[in-house]
Amino acid sequence: MSGTPFVFFRGDYMPLSEAKVSVMTHALHYGTGVFEGIRGNWNAEDRVTYIFRLKEHYERLLRGCQLMMLEIPHSCEELCRITVEVVEMSGFTEDLYIRPLAYKSAEKVANLKLHELDDDFLVMAIPFGKYLSAEVLRCCTSSWRRVEDSMIPSRLKICGLYVNSILAKTDAVLSGFDEAILLNEDSHVCEGTGENIFLVNDGRISTPPLDDNVLPGITRDTVMVLAREELGTEVVERHIDRSELYPADECFLTGTAAHVTPVVEIDHRRIGNGEVGPVTRRLQELYFDVVRGKDERYLHWCTSATPRLAKA
Ligand SMILES: Cc1ncc(COP(=O)(O)O)c(C=O)c1O
Repeated sequence: MSGTPFVFFRGDYMPLSEAKVSVMTHALHYGTGVFEGIRGNWNAEDRVTYIFRLKEHYERLLRGCQLMMLEIPHSCEELCRITVEVVEMSGFTEDLYIRPLAYKSAEKVANLKLHELDDDFLVMAIPFGKYLSAEVLRCCTSSWRRVEDSMIPSRLKICGLYVNSILAKTDAVLSGFDEAILLNEDSHVCEGTGENIFLVNDGRISTPPLDDNVLPGITRDTVMVLAREELGTEVVERHIDRSELYPADECFLTGTAAHVTPVVEIDHRRIGNGEVGPVTRRLQELYFDVVRGKDERYLHWCTSATPRLAKA
């Protein structure tokens, strides 16, 4: 291992092994936190880690903080700066997962009033390779439904909300699938457990609209921009029914952890010819260049951090 997992915790930078919380921590009991998943992509040629769309991740985190009444004493710009520092101090010269977490740190377990609970913020950087178990996915439609906005807002990355994804993912994997696709209460296709979903039909790309209880994914947005700018195609946001999944020409999932990953089978039905389709393949190629800082036109999406060991 080339570096040391690092964290910004209680206002200080330290090795991850030194950061500990009490068993009384409110967020541990009730999931009262919001988090982000960000990738730091190592570019061996530039000897730089490119952190992808850092600002947009913190903008989403801060929207979650507002809902959860989490007051963290840092602006979006400061959060970005702190994150670059954590990545540089960690010293890794490989791909990273960056996990910011704003949470109710109060050591109170019998209190359900957000406004009475203290808050904290941490951000850690750890090595991270592949998230999904396969390069092409076999998915199932989950029997679990996506949590409705009126229950726990699914547009935000609220910690407790993820029990919904975890139940669906666990059942899918234990049943031999790579990933689950969740429907919402209206029976419309919603998203994967940690990914947005896209279909391609006759070259036209579609994805569920945000008001179908979909997380406004940053990779989703990235793919929509790449489709428009590079393929000359607008992605259509529309309700998608389950029965539209099976006859699609192509299907793919997007997410920070999942990248752009083709789906070749859903509920034992082959999608298209069962191989990676041309639109998915092209978007995947574009995306991998963009996130690794290899496409000058999209360098504004990449924040560079130079690991301390790489500088030496
Ligand atoms: C439920 C859910 N949908 C979609 C995504 C994809 O979002 P992003 O591309 O911002 O990582 C994620 C991952 O964060 C997620 O947890």
